[in-house]
Amino acid sequence: MGKAIVVQDLKKRYGDVQAVDGVSFEVESGEFFGILGPNGAGKTTTLEILEGLRQADSGSAEIFGLSPWPRNPRLLPRIGVQLQASAFFERLTAREQIRTFASLYGVSPAKADEMLEVVGLADKANTPAEKLSGGQAQRLSIAIALAHGPELVFLDEPTAALDPQARRNLWDLLREINAAGRTVVLTTHYMDEAESLCDRVAVMDHGKILKLGSPAVLVRGLDSPTHISVELGVISLAAAKELAGPGDEVAEDGISLTIATRKPAVILSELAERGALAGLQVRGATLEDVFLDLTGREYRA
Ligand SMILES: Nc1ncnc2c1ncn2[C@@H]1O[C@H](COP(=O)(O)OP(=O)(O)OP(=O)(O)O)[C@@H](O)[C@H]1O
Ligand SMILES: [Mg+2]
Repeated sequence: MGKAIVVQDLKKRYGDVQAVDGVSFEVESGEFFGILGPNGAGKTTTLEILEGLRQADSGSAEIFGLSPWPRNPRLLPRIGVQLQASAFFERLTAREQIRTFASLYGVSPAKADEMLEVVGLADKANTPAEKLSGGQAQRLSIAIALAHGPELVFLDEPTAALDPQARRNLWDLLREINAAGRTVVLTTHYMDEAESLCDRVAVMDHGKILKLGSPAVLVRGLDSPTHISVELGVISLAAAKELAGPGDEVAEDGISLTIATRKPAVILSELAERGALAGLQVRGATLEDVFLDLTGREYRA
């Protein structure tokens, strides 16, 4: 299949801020690749360099074996770009916006209208872009990014402003696009999104990639305990502490009692034997745990 993207030791500085600080990764053709990271991690800057919108200070980037900078007219029809902040032509309706963009790529108005339908905006076709809600505008910019059938799509936080239905619908659309052989690169703050969509995820912070791998492998590598909760009162705190193995932790929060354990099978069978399974919940580590473990919990602007 070949490589869609090869990035080596990419760096970009804005004044005092080293926004991208030696990033290297590769994306295979047909892969669904995610970049996960807190605000200011350098995700957008990295994408902008790959999209040919920004020049790197050093390092190299190749898209389908070609350099994205300076802007390469041979590359443009092969990539689709949805920016974090979408910009539209003033006063044009949704339909006029997408038809205009599509015509730049030789895409028919009918195909453009079809994309509006796909993202659920057919009933907003006559609405000027500035009167669309945040989520609707976001869906329009995604439709525009996809209308010319690019081989590689960059989506910068595509679901940030979407309601739960629109978000799930977009996931389905992105899965379809990817299943049809297109490469997708997206950034997100949503762990469930990365976990459910991406073949591989790069966890990024302070301009560097901290970890890269499939969500399952990243989660497995974390060695974090399984949390087993039952309704408060079905087993006493003292009995739970007796059940718990060395290194396990037992906690109550007024609603449930939770044992954090590395031997969930033992605890579960003991609880079952005592008939103490009311309100049972079992939670393994998620990508969110990986993310917090790598990037810390402090709030950063
Ligand atoms: N045009 C710019 N001029 C100066 N500094 C910038 C510019 N764009 C980004 N930065 C800085 O570079 C760093 C990385 O920003 P970037 O937008 O790449 O992060 P991000 O991971 O996309 O964050 P977010 O999740 O908030 O979108 C931040 O510290 C930001 O303040
Ligand atoms: Mg960003």
